[in-house]
Amino acid sequence: MVYAAIMTQRLTLLRPDDWHLHLRDGALLQAVLPESARHFARALIMPNLVPPVVTAAQAAAYRDRILATLPTGAAFLPMMTLYLTETTDPADVAAAHAGGVVTAVKLYPAGATTNSQSGVTDFGRVRPVLEKMAEIGLPLCVHGEVTDPAVDIFDREAVFIDRVLDPIRRATPGLRVVMEHITTAEGVAYVRSGGRDLGATITTHHLFLNRNHILAGGIRPHYYCLPVAKRESHRQALREAATSGEARFFLGTDSAPHPDHLKEQACGCAGCFTATNTMPLLAHVFEECGALNRLEAFTSRNGAAFYGKAPNDGTLTLVRGDAVTWPAKIETAAGPVTVFDPGCAVHWRVEP
Ligand code: DOR
Ligand code: ZN
Repeated sequence: MVYAAIMTQRLTLLRPDDWHLHLRDGALLQAVLPESARHFARALIMPNLVPPVVTAAQAAAYRDRILATLPTGAAFLPMMTLYLTETTDPADVAAAHAGGVVTAVKLYPAGATTNSQSGVTDFGRVRPVLEKMAEIGLPLCVHGEVTDPAVDIFDREAVFIDRVLDPIRRATPGLRVVMEHITTAEGVAYVRSGGRDLGATITTHHLFLNRNHILAGGIRPHYYCLPVAKRESHRQALREAATSGEARFFLGTDSAPHPDHLKEQACGCAGCFTATNTMPLLAHVFEECGALNRLEAFTSRNGAAFYGKAPNDGTLTLVRGDAVTWPAKIETAAGPVTVFDPGCAVHWRVEP
């Protein structure tokens, strides 16, 4: 017997959160903030500015600049992070947490990615901060890549788990950890091996990209990000995890705008800008995986639950129809920023 597929045409979700977002500052902030505020109710804001956001006072000032830049009438809550350095003071972190200024602390291995020079080289030196965070229940967001030049770039996440992340977690019971932007089957398996103190964000672009998309048939700088996309089997593992509905996996777009001239050069910056079209792209992926009924868990419930927050009140409706378009670029005073191109037709739009 043949059943006609009943195609979902409308999908209403609780308003989503983005648990990993780069908003930058100044001209870029001005241009990219409306793109996130249009669809997302809240976002966890990454601290890798130049100079980095290392103190509670800097985090509060950055939050105020974001709020002052919001379009009139936009309801968007920036949740702030502190950039962990080897001189971060545990007492400052505890005060920032108690004062409600920060939602998490971000660990960048020094040299791992954009503006990570002030990050951590000797993980033993941040042990007192991590112990304080475990004590007060403040989550640690981890950029999980080793920087050892001897380790192949495609192996850096898996090696980080063994050499750095697992030892830190064993040595710091109770520390709540989010493995940011996982890109490998090993990352998925490691997160599944943990308890409720371990979660992971998954980006939109890593659900679309494998390494061929970056390198085969010409080099595509707008698909270059860190951690770099891996082979297809890893992308499949990420799709399976994101669409599983499991509470430990949630959306962190890692939308990371760079003006085009800084990506399209001999040594281009890492980052994909997905703030504009993330929700249609996710609906596309979840539909392909037969998991539209689990999209809300991924975008609107699991992350909030991990961070001990209630889900948002409002809703966002996705509608399926003709292929949609969006601007290829966002104009900014620092130059145009290319919007992520998924390389396929997408039929979902967000209802205005
Ligand atoms: O691709 C990336 N871009 N990965 C990161 O970890 C940082 C980000 C950025 O800030 O540009
Ligand atoms: Zn990031």
